[in-house]
Formats: sequence, C-alpha cells, structure tokens
Amino acid sequence: MSHFIRPEQRPAWQALQALADASAPHLRELLPDAPRHAALQFEAAGIQADASRQRVTPQIMQALLQLADEAQVMRQAQAMFHGEAINTTEQRPVLHVALRGGGLDATPTAASPPWGAAIAAEVQRELARFTDFAEQLRAGGVSGFTGEAITDVVNLGIGGSDLGPRMASEALGQLSDTLKPPPFRVHYVSNVDPWSLATTLAPLQASRTLFIVQSKSFTTQETMTLAASAKRWLQDAGCSEALLSQQLVAVTAQPALAQASGYKPGHCFLLWDWVGGRYSVWSAIGLPLAVLIGREAFLQMLAGGRAMDQHFLNTPPARNLPLLMALWGIWNRNFLGASTHHVAPYASALGRLVPFLQQMDMESNGKRVHADGSMASVGTSPVLWGGLGIDGQHAYFQLIHQGQHLVPVDFIGVRQAHAGLPLAAEHQRVVLLNLQAQAQALAMGRSVTDTAQMLRESGLSEAQAQAMAPHRSFAGNVPSTLLWLDQLTPHSLGALLALYEHKVFCQAAIWGINAFDQWGVELGKTMARTLESLRGA
Ligand code: F6P
Repeated sequence: MSHFIRPEQRPAWQALQALADASAPHLRELLPDAPRHAALQFEAAGIQADASRQRVTPQIMQALLQLADEAQVMRQAQAMFHGEAINTTEQRPVLHVALRGGGLDATPTAASPPWGAAIAAEVQRELARFTDFAEQLRAGGVSGFTGEAITDVVNLGIGGSDLGPRMASEALGQLSDTLKPPPFRVHYVSNVDPWSLATTLAPLQASRTLFIVQSKSFTTQETMTLAASAKRWLQDAGCSEALLSQQLVAVTAQPALAQASGYKPGHCFLLWDWVGGRYSVWSAIGLPLAVLIGREAFLQMLAGGRAMDQHFLNTPPARNLPLLMALWGIWNRNFLGASTHHVAPYASALGRLVPFLQQMDMESNGKRVHADGSMASVGTSPVLWGGLGIDGQHAYFQLIHQGQHLVPVDFIGVRQAHAGLPLAAEHQRVVLLNLQAQAQALAMGRSVTDTAQMLRESGLSEAQAQAMAPHRSFAGNVPSTLLWLDQLTPHSLGALLALYEHKVFCQAAIWGINAFDQWGVELGKTMARTLESLRGA
C-alpha cells in the first residue's frame, strides 16, 4: 500500500476545520439567498435533491470538493468498477455494480464492461436462471408434494439475505393502482425465535409453500435453524424425503454446502464472494422480490441502479449527487459534530428502508481502523437511525427540534402517491406539506425573542411570555437534504439504493477505511459457539 495519508493530515481537512472553527451564518440567514438556493439543487438518475438546508457556503463546498480530490475518491471508484481487490482484508473485488450492468433486458450493456466480459457473462447467466425460476413460479409451474402449484414463498435469511429483498418487496409489492393482493404471496422470516416462523407458517398450506433459504455463507446459525424447522414442517405435513427438495431453494455463494444438505442443483442459485451481503439485493438474493414483482419489474430496478452508476461515474464532482451526499455527511459528522444521521422517508411503502440502510451504512463504515491498520482519530460512520417521517413527527422529532443533539436529516419524498383511495390526493398533500414544514422548521427554528413576541401576541403577560419563551423556542440550524422521487417505481427505488451505496463508498474513501469487510460481526458468532461447546447447549 502506498504511504497512507490520514484524513486529518490532508490540507483540505485542515481548511475545513478552520472554516468550522470560524463563526458561520445561521440557516435562517442563508435560506433567503435565491442564487444559493438554485446552486444547491441537484438531479441524478431521476432523483432530485434540495440541499439548500445543508449548512454550507461556497467556501465550504469548495473545501469539501478539494477533500474529495485529495482523497482521489473518483479514482478509487474506478478501481472498484474495474474489479480491483479493494476489500483489502479479504483480498476481494467489490462488484455489486456488475450485478446491474445490464444485458438481460433490452438495454445494451457496454461492449466490454470495466469488470470484464467473463464476470458479465456469469452475472447474466445467473440472472437468467433465477428470473426464469421466478417466472416459472409465478406461472404456477412449480408444484409441491401433492402436485398442487406453489402459491406461497417463505424467505429464510438474515441481514443482507433478508433486508434488501424484504424492503423492496414492501416498497414495490403493491404498486398497482388496484391494490389487489398480488398473485403470489412472499413472506420473510429472519429471526430464529420460534414465534416468528410459527406465526408465518400457521396460515399456510405446506403442500403449496416453497422455502427460499438465503445465506451467502450457508453457515449462519439462525438461518440454518430456520431451514431445519421448515423441512420438519413439510415432513410433518406429509412431504416425503424424496419430494422435499422440490419445495426448497438455496441462494448462496456455497452451492456445495447447499447440495450436500439436499438442495437440488436446479434449485441452487448463486452469488459470488465479491458481492457483500449488504450489497446483494441485485443478485439472486433478490429472488423473492423477483417472484413477487416479476422479472420485468426486477430488471427495471437493476436499470435504476445502473442509471445511478452512470451518474456516479460520469458526473463532475460538483454535480455528483452520491459524492455530494457523502461530503455533506462528512461536514456534519466531522466538522459540525453530529454523531448520528437520520433518514426519514415520507412514503409508508418505504417503511423498511431505514433498517436496510442501517446495515449498508453501519456494517460498512462502523470501523475504527484505517485501511493501513492504524487507529482512526477522526469520526467514521455516524449512528444511522430513522423511520417514517410522518410517524416520527409524533414520536422522536421532539429531540431533533429541541434536544441537545445535532441530527442531520435526509427527508425522502415521493411526489405521486398510489391511487387506491378516493381522497388519495388529499392524503398526499398532507404528507408532502408536513415533509416540507419539518425541514423548514428544523432549519429556521424560532428564536427566544420571536417566541416571546409570539406568546405576548397570543395574550400572555410579559412575565408569562418571558417564562415560557425558553421552553418554546427552537435553535434551528438543523441541516437536511430533501430527496424527491417523482414516483415509487422499481427504477426509482433502484436509483435510490445505488445512491446510498455510492455515498457510503465515498465516505469510506475519504475516511480511509475498508467499507467491505465486517470483522466486527465475527466475535459474537465465535462466542456463541464457545458457549455452546462449554455448556454442551
Ligand atoms: O453477521 C453479519 C452477516 O454476515 C452479514 O454481513 C450478512 O448479510 C448476514 O450476516 C447473513 O450472512 P449469510 O448471508 O452468509 O447468511
């Protein structure tokens, strides 16, 4: 490794520190500046971003872009797309971008993609295999042990083998305006406590249920326990040993392990060691999603991710949305002292987006050691939290408005709601009104002076107004970005997920950490095995 430069040693980092130490205008002074507002509007792969409520000035933006340049973020991005072994502790490439490189659908792929023709061919072959299977299932072409067609799919997996397809299934599973239940039911079980699987299986008919066991390693104790229970449930319902494999599918990077435990080759779908679990929704791990929404919609999600990849690779840094989101996050985390980052979707179909982003962001950048093995002295990943914004307003937004933490917020809005209700437009108006009001209130706040004046005008005495003002004033100056999707579609969801993937990548590149290993999850697993052996559990 060439001489490692610690982030805080970079001239741009020191310039940013000086800017942060200097007094800065409050957002309520910056927001009325129309040219500034216009300069902080961005678009990428159909997603619009309003960053006017980020606490940045042209000088700060210049220094942030200088930091990205000094850290050679875009050169590091080229290394990823070209399949260099950037996951240095595991000596692996990182090529989830190859999974959405195009090809199966009508969209032409690059003649020779940066990751090479061999990987592209392997990806296309597996994409065809698992989407063929999804279409076969949807057409009633897979039958259970009584010969009846399968109607329910139960996905057994955890972490990246659950969160992505589960989130996307909720987001995209009922897109049609009719909102009729989809022709196929897909269920997700990740937790190994018996209640979870038991309540999922209770209403299902064993002879018409197929299990997808998703595990990149095919060793995850929780998932293997769930798989054993699923087999037992089928057997207890009368499924013979010989017919079991008809209702079992494995998605894994270890097909030999799967086939050794009874999964037939035609029911084993592959991903590769260069696909991180938290980046695998684009692979065969997306099979349950493809079953639910169909091949065409799944390919549209890949196309959305591909469109964001093209934006990321081909857009100059000053207009490059993933890079800019990374830089605003670093300004807030490392220079304004925000230790958490909040994501607030304002579309309830995105109810599972935050858990998905938590794994992507914090399993990638929740690291304290730089790529060269030295201990980081700068802050790395903030704690990512959040949830549906409308509900959050009535729950924890109090802390964001009047607490002691600076909590930057990504607001995610979808302009066009599904129909499905006579008053859908009114519902949507209320949703988007609240999204914008919250962002504005967090930015503007309300000073003690203005609050006291408001209270006097509302009839309080001078003494009462003075006494109440501290309790009812708002510091404001809370930074946020508004991300807008015109509609929630497979394409726009794909673009949104890739946007966050590349934001995570850019932050890791600047912090000088490896975003693609996850040694932090190993000790707990080892300890569980140790305790098991000690107690003969
Ligand atoms: O323990 C963390 C983790 O390894 C994640 O990185 C991964 O997505 C999840 O567990 C499930 O792993 P597998 O797909 O190998 O079962």
